[in-house]
Amino acid sequence: GQDLMRLAHENDVELEGIRKLLSILGACEGACACSTCHVILDKDVYDKLPPPAIEEEDMLDLAFGLTPTSRLGCQVKLTKGLDGMRAQLPKATRNMAVDGYKPK
Ligand code: FES
Repeated sequence: GQDLMRLAHENDVELEGIRKLLSILGACEGACACSTCHVILDKDVYDKLPPPAIEEEDMLDLAFGLTPTSRLGCQVKLTKGLDGMRAQLPKATRNMAVDGYKPK
């Protein structure tokens, strides 16, 4: 029931280079109003998810390195059926937050 972005934040995912990225991931804190939580999923995982809502598609259009299996991590609700899934981060992200804002 938790979303992928919050899971990564709460578990302080330890992957090379990710710590720095995590500081900007989720700039809108899951409001589907940025694309900093962009993740790239394996096709089989992507196909298990409900299709993205219009709001998510609009934000994905702004994501760097969009792929056919891209989703916003804050919109990916985790289920037991996704156990063992993998998600990749794009090589870069567009952070639209300004004025030094950092999510908590
Ligand atoms: Fe902003 Fe996911 S955290 S769209």
